[in-house]
Amino acid sequence: MHIHSFTRAVAGIMLACSPAIHAADIIPLPSSISKTDATYTFPEKATVSVPQFEGDSIALVVKTLSSQLEKSSGTKLVLSDSDAAITLTLNNTLPREAYNLEVTADGINIQASSPAGFFYALQSLRQLMPAESKTPATIGTVSIEDTPRFGWRGFMLDEGRHIFGKDEVKRVLDMMALYKLNRFHWHLTEDQGWRIEIKKYPKLTEIGATRGSRSLGWRECEPDTMTYSGFYTQDDIREIVAYAKDRFIEVVPEIDIPGHTQAAVAAYPEILACDPENPHEVWLYQGVSRDVMNVANPAAVRMATDIIDELIPLFPYSYLHLGGDECPTDKWKTNEACKALLDSIGSDNYRDLQLDFYRKIAKHMAAKPEADRRKLIFWNEVLHGNTSMLPQDMTIMAWVGADKAAMEAARRGHTTILTPQIPYYINRKQDPSPSEPLSQGRGTETLEAVYNYVPMKDVPQELADKYMGVQANFWSEYVITPEFLEYLMLPRLAAVAEAGWTPQDKRDYSDFHKRIRTHEPILQANDWNYGRHAFTNACTKCAENKND
Ligand code: ACM
Repeated sequence: MHIHSFTRAVAGIMLACSPAIHAADIIPLPSSISKTDATYTFPEKATVSVPQFEGDSIALVVKTLSSQLEKSSGTKLVLSDSDAAITLTLNNTLPREAYNLEVTADGINIQASSPAGFFYALQSLRQLMPAESKTPATIGTVSIEDTPRFGWRGFMLDEGRHIFGKDEVKRVLDMMALYKLNRFHWHLTEDQGWRIEIKKYPKLTEIGATRGSRSLGWRECEPDTMTYSGFYTQDDIREIVAYAKDRFIEVVPEIDIPGHTQAAVAAYPEILACDPENPHEVWLYQGVSRDVMNVANPAAVRMATDIIDELIPLFPYSYLHLGGDECPTDKWKTNEACKALLDSIGSDNYRDLQLDFYRKIAKHMAAKPEADRRKLIFWNEVLHGNTSMLPQDMTIMAWVGADKAAMEAARRGHTTILTPQIPYYINRKQDPSPSEPLSQGRGTETLEAVYNYVPMKDVPQELADKYMGVQANFWSEYVITPEFLEYLMLPRLAAVAEAGWTPQDKRDYSDFHKRIRTHEPILQANDWNYGRHAFTNACTKCAENKND
């Protein structure tokens, strides 16, 4: 890719002319920050004191700090109990993810009540350090008190349409960690590909992970004839979940059922298809397939619960996303078993067949030992059915008509997460220039538009505690390469991260714009690709961001 060599060349130029203290401004903006005029210079050997904590997570945070310091300034960290230059202190009065960070001329003091808080202090410190390697490293003195606005600060990656691979997922997790995002919503199944090994149903990946076109057909574009294939083994999944855990990111898998399931139907038509007598293939097109699961077949329900049983030990967190968006009911309307099932539940709304399917899954979940139970998340179309069939503790992820849908979910007593399609779908074009690479939208999801979305606007106080947070989503219909993924993600991911972390009354686009411009050396030092629009005022490199 041309873009990477360009990136390195620019980084080289910046290195040559960078001032003595070349720090970035912190993103997301802390709740409270005051800078003073002094500086702290890291010695060749810096002593660090670390409090005892159950488990070794703080030690892990210090290990990360140690390797970053060594890389950026040559400084070696040495553990010490007294008179340390860098002091980590437990302060149990702080919320779990909060931290205080004090940099004085004599040293650095960090307080937090949990490893996550220390980790976030470290992310802020990282941004205060020179992005480029410098010996010795000098940083400005500063006093920060910081705590996130929301507990859920997410990013969703669709790897059903296109799969980017383990190395790229790790890079994405690194980006998330830098900006203090803490939920990786992994969309692993689609009409166009099933991407996770399920041992009880091997054909899901033997058949469902391969299709006969790399690009997805859309409008006048026909599919190509290339074989396109890929999935994650359960060992891969464990590796990614562990990598994310080290960065205080919980991985939330999404198995999108009973719609968006054409790849699964192609693998097991005898169980899942409404019309098993017809041929079924992994889809080669964009859009919403009508080839949904036959929810009236008890074997299909059993297959769903079997799959979920395999997911639970792989993803040891509280939430499981079962999709629920864009599920056409056409095939149910012409299927005798589906018609009879709808009759039997006393409804004439075919959406209720979908909710009855979830009700059975929820019942299966409720019967598990507490440690294995997961709370369910659904896209907001589920609100079009009789949600009284579903557990009260389900969460609605609001994407279409997001503000209204989230409010409706909250009114019905459910928690909700804001992922507004416009402007938080950061796979959409970020600039209207005709040279912008082909993706969804018209270029109106600019960095500024993404930044300026106001979460929880006009939400009544009595519903406020139902709002868990915000999330950026990335759909990969048009996006095939890691370079293009990163180009669209960055820097817009940072804008969503700030909405998730920083109090609304402290957010201001022109201030953010100034701060994000100081992050260019960090993006370059990590060799991440990114949209240049916010940095250059002109989209000079867009044309190079093609998919091949
Ligand atoms: C969605 O964008 N279909 C959730």
